[in-house]
Amino acid sequence: MDHDIDRILISRHRIAERVMELAAEIARTYAGDVEAGLTLVTILSGSLIFLSDLIRCLPLRMKIGLITVSSYKGTKPTPAAILQQLNTDVTGRHVLLVDDILDTGGTLRLVREQLVSAGPKSIRTCVLLRKPSKAPPDVPADFVGFDIEDVFVVGYGLDFNDHYRNLPDIAVLRPEVYAS
Ligand code: IMP
Ligand code: MG
Repeated sequence: MDHDIDRILISRHRIAERVMELAAEIARTYAGDVEAGLTLVTILSGSLIFLSDLIRCLPLRMKIGLITVSSYKGTKPTPAAILQQLNTDVTGRHVLLVDDILDTGGTLRLVREQLVSAGPKSIRTCVLLRKPSKAPPDVPADFVGFDIEDVFVVGYGLDFNDHYRNLPDIAVLRPEVYAS
């Protein structure tokens, strides 16, 4: 796997530091209003590792919800589609949507639309990565780990054709890998 990597964009150490900072920001945001309950809705499969690290830094009472969305074929975005519906009721609760990356915004827009109909008390979004050159203004992120250039990245949960999710760093693959 290592010989497929062209360069590391964000090291595991920087990720760990930033995840702790994000968790502190999130904890401050919800600390004053815990009565309604908080559900972290994670968009699978890309946010699996991010979520698991983030929640262990978050000393808040919470539930976890899972929703599966497909949006990429190789390195090309396709229209986002829900493959598995949310497995928990978020009516009246605070919802924090957690995704690995905000790219064209199609995924978060679709999930947000679905959740609104359940009548949550609030919806905020948290993404580990954002490509600011592409993210549309109608899909804001409340918590952002890193703004990155418009390159296709893998690792720390992010995949290319379902591989490389287990790389501990966020990396750019060698062009030959994408071409094959
Ligand atoms: P969006 O719907 O275009 O915002 O893309 C969001 C989803 O596409 C993310 O949840 C990822 O699963 C996937 N995605 C977008 N950019 C990348 C990338 O650079 N590497 C891996 N997956 C990506
Ligand atoms: Mg995803």
